[in-house]
Amino acid sequence: MIPMETSVHPPIRSFRLRRRRLSPERMELYRERSVRWSLPADVLLDWSTVFPTIAAPIDVVLDIGFGGGEALVALAAQRPTEAIVGVEVHTTGVARVLETIDLAGWQHVRVVEDDVLVLLPRVPAKSLAGVRLFFPDPWPKNKQRHRRIARADVVPQFVDRLRVGGTLHIATDIADYAEQVAQLCADDSRLRGGVVARPEWRPVTKFETRGLAEGRQPIDLIYERVS
Ligand SMILES: C[S@@+](CC[C@H](N)C(=O)[O-])C[C@H]1O[C@@H](n2cnc3c(N)ncnc32)[C@H](O)[C@@H]1O
Repeated sequence: MIPMETSVHPPIRSFRLRRRRLSPERMELYRERSVRWSLPADVLLDWSTVFPTIAAPIDVVLDIGFGGGEALVALAAQRPTEAIVGVEVHTTGVARVLETIDLAGWQHVRVVEDDVLVLLPRVPAKSLAGVRLFFPDPWPKNKQRHRRIARADVVPQFVDRLRVGGTLHIATDIADYAEQVAQLCADDSRLRGGVVARPEWRPVTKFETRGLAEGRQPIDLIYERVS
């Protein structure tokens, strides 16, 4: 894999740093598992090297901000021939997914503990079968909206990494976030798609459950890269 230059400008943060810590025992396990199952930093990723046991052409899906990993783990269990790269900034969620990968011995799932905006330059153009963004942090106040991960300077970067025929799937229960995504995707001539009925295969996570309890409905938007 080829070493990369790193950006000197830190990206705008789309997440809040939380201070929850792992116990010393869990931290030790997390460190060991991280060495085994996380992706190396600062290299251009080559999927056939990352997933040597999966036959080409490999369908690689990026799961951005997987939180506690419920959806990632459920889909990984159902789809052993789909390669998943999960990216999340919070160690507790990362540790939970690493534990599942380790116990199951999964060769088709890898984890990156970092800001997706730091990861993206390492993902080759037109190399992904899918980008999943399930319930991104909503940043509902006007003055916070520039923090949303699905924003004007970022969505095209996701599309750049999708291969033609690949899909961008965003689920949110914040109506104006869905409108923002729909507008940004309409502005990108490489995409076709829009709002779809909630796919039955998309696992329910605690964020969706919480939103439903608070009276919000999930909105799924799926776009295919057509050129
Ligand atoms: C509201 S939670 C949703 C979690 C999960 N997708 C679900 O549906 O349950 C959003 C997650 O995205 C993560 N996140 C936000 N911005 C991120 C970024 N730039 N890179 C990686 N993860 C990010 C947060 O840490 C948080 O865990």
